[in-house]
Amino acid sequence: MAAGKGTRMKSARPKVLHRLGGTSLLQHVLDTCAALPAARCVVITGHGADAVEAEARGNQLAFVRQQPQLGTGHAILQALPALDERAPTTLILNGDVPLIREATAAALATACGGEKLALLTIELPDASGYGRIVRDAAGRVTGIVEHKDASAVQRQIREVYTGMMAAPTAALQRWVRAIGNDNAQAEYYLTDIVAMAVADGVPVVATQAASDTEVLGVNSPAQLADLERRLQRARAEALLEAGVRLADPARLDLRGQLHCGEDVEIDVNCVFEGTVRLGDGVRIGAHCVLRDATIGAGSVVQPMCHIEGATVGPKAQIGPFARLRPGAQLGADVHIGNFVEVKNSTLAAGAKANHLAYLGDATVGERVNYGAGSITANYDGANKHRTVIGADAHIGSNCVLVAPVHIGDGATVGGGSTIARDVPAGKLAIVRAPQVVVDGWQRPVKNGQSV
Ligand code: UD1
Ligand code: CA
Repeated sequence: MAAGKGTRMKSARPKVLHRLGGTSLLQHVLDTCAALPAARCVVITGHGADAVEAEARGNQLAFVRQQPQLGTGHAILQALPALDERAPTTLILNGDVPLIREATAAALATACGGEKLALLTIELPDASGYGRIVRDAAGRVTGIVEHKDASAVQRQIREVYTGMMAAPTAALQRWVRAIGNDNAQAEYYLTDIVAMAVADGVPVVATQAASDTEVLGVNSPAQLADLERRLQRARAEALLEAGVRLADPARLDLRGQLHCGEDVEIDVNCVFEGTVRLGDGVRIGAHCVLRDATIGAGSVVQPMCHIEGATVGPKAQIGPFARLRPGAQLGADVHIGNFVEVKNSTLAAGAKANHLAYLGDATVGERVNYGAGSITANYDGANKHRTVIGADAHIGSNCVLVAPVHIGDGATVGGGSTIARDVPAGKLAIVRAPQVVVDGWQRPVKNGQSV
């Protein structure tokens, strides 16, 4: 069910498309579904349906629309034609309850077994707002009563319905068609089918969730932020368990996949997005952001670096304050220092750009020393051009290499040069206005002061 508006999010974005750990709320649920042996996955959309359907990914996905949204029973009513009649069990999950575990969902489906109505429940110290599980003297479930419809005595019940259930498909079809809306909210409550099952003599069983985290829904920014912390804590603990040394598990944000070798150390406040791979012995300094990057064994990323779409070889030194942009491919022992930006460039083993530099669309040979303040002028206003710098070349400080240009192996470019023509291997190129020394020159003085 993913049709609800999510009014309390106070957002133009449909609630189920808000991000948790880098993935939409709905996609968390769909990924869990994909891990289950389900023949078909039906997503009920309504509010922001076009956007929700465009972003949802998965196999065997079918969409049905619920317009307008008249309650959870009404939502499932729309889905009935899309259900697989041959599937004995229908599992109902919520698009805004993202952290439901695969094992719990599977246990719920198993508890149903195509024969029983299985409800996922949990005991909460504060159950207000939730549907309460009503049991008879023998402890058998007799129904669910919504908070707004509950009596004072029923409101004392701590066992609540989490919003997730598994039902025999054929019976579900029958029950859902019979749901009315004569209640406090004039909504079609899916929860009404529990009493119908009891009346039909279908056993109703309650499966307890393992922890509240997996049944918590997102209704507000505060709840989203709370779940984010829980998810991040769990991800950090999994990394610690795998041997990754996190300076502080409370100060890590993993919004994708992080694959680590042995003896990886990560300092505080780092953000990992997309797919990041850190080789053995990699150290990541504080406050780094890495997205879709691979860092080779033994490399050190100093604090405050931004690395995206880049590959770094082994034993490299990056930062502090370095920026590696998509297509940066650095070999072994490469050094990239502070305020150096590298984009779509290959740096062979041992190349160094240690200070205040830009390398864009460049091919840099082994052991090249690229001086402070130098840049590749790779863009002529219309097209990008390549700069090729041969092995062992030395580019002085504050140079402009106007691409396309080729600097030969072992060539030297004098500081302050603007190089627009190729430099042959082993030669010195220097483009610099001659220095003038003025004799007897007087500095200006402020008005009223004598010399
Ligand atoms: C529901 C349950 C309640 C349970 C609670 C757990 C009912 C009647 N009540 O209440 O017993 O304790 O969840 O969180 O089911 N949705 C639609 N279309 C609609 C209405 C809702 O798709 O017309 C979707 C929402 O997007 C959401 C889910 O159904 O994913 C639950 O809806 P919500 O309004 O949060 O249900 P509650 O009233 O909280
Ligand atoms: Ca809710």
